[in-house]
Amino acid sequence: MELRHLRYFVAVAEERNFTRAAQRLHIAQPPLSRQIQQLEETLGVQLFERTARPLKLTDTGKFFYSHAVQLLAQTAELESMTRRVGNIERSLSVGFVGSTLYGMLPKIIRRFRDDHTTVELSLHEMSTMDQIRALKDGHIDVGFGRIRHEDANIRRVVLREEKMIVALPQGHPLSALKPVLSLQDLVHETLIIFPKAPRPSYADQVLAAFHDRALKPRRIYETREVQIALGLVAAGEGISIVPSSVHGLKRDDVSYKELDDPSLVSPIIMSMRKLDESQDLREMLELIYRLYEEEKIDYVPVTDEERGRS
Ligand code: BEZ
Repeated sequence: MELRHLRYFVAVAEERNFTRAAQRLHIAQPPLSRQIQQLEETLGVQLFERTARPLKLTDTGKFFYSHAVQLLAQTAELESMTRRVGNIERSLSVGFVGSTLYGMLPKIIRRFRDDHTTVELSLHEMSTMDQIRALKDGHIDVGFGRIRHEDANIRRVVLREEKMIVALPQGHPLSALKPVLSLQDLVHETLIIFPKAPRPSYADQVLAAFHDRALKPRRIYETREVQIALGLVAAGEGISIVPSSVHGLKRDDVSYKELDDPSLVSPIIMSMRKLDESQDLREMLELIYRLYEEEKIDYVPVTDEERGRS
């Protein structure tokens, strides 16, 4: 029995008519009838009730049909997967912290995929510290995080320093107080921070901003992630300090205000294995700078050391 027999059989079973099945298969009817007969002889069973019009499957035919369909589907899958494996030359695993999804990450990934169709790209959400471990273990090839962590085996490139802004419930008195707020203006509020764990995280950058200015918010409320923090802000539970790209998450029930201090920023850091000089990573970095130029986004200029490597 060959795959051709299964294809012919499935066509006849589905069309319930030899003429229509032959048309669907683009062959003449007599050879199709011969192939089905041959199949029945090989199996030693009858698959169709020949006298019924339209054609009907016997119980054995029904059993054979359900398995033949599965086998043909598996064959098609095997064909397409083999083609893919044959065309994929390399893979690149990317770790990222959730908040970078509101910035340029989706655009970077889409553009990289378009330009590198033979690179299998996979995305993994993880904290900056987990990215460092995953890089060393070889589980990812590049990480995008926010924590400045020194490690002898990791190369870090600070891509940009993203401004922090304040998210307030719609109609909050601070929205109308002045055009730009200071952290001092926020100390009587409940400060909603994220992510709660693992630490250190963006939450600690926000806490440090208050601590460095000898300020203490009235109450701290820790949440898992930015979406939850914004939901709580919308509910009037408190205010939150978010990276400015979160502004793109337009919500009618939340308003955003700028902060007066330009040093209130959170970095976006690209981390790689120190000895990894792969062309894909070099091209990803170049693509990021190109996108910053296109979108007129302020970035940290590449250092001489970085330039020497790329
Ligand atoms: C950005 O928003 O600048 C960014 C986010 C993720 C990866 C790289 C850059």
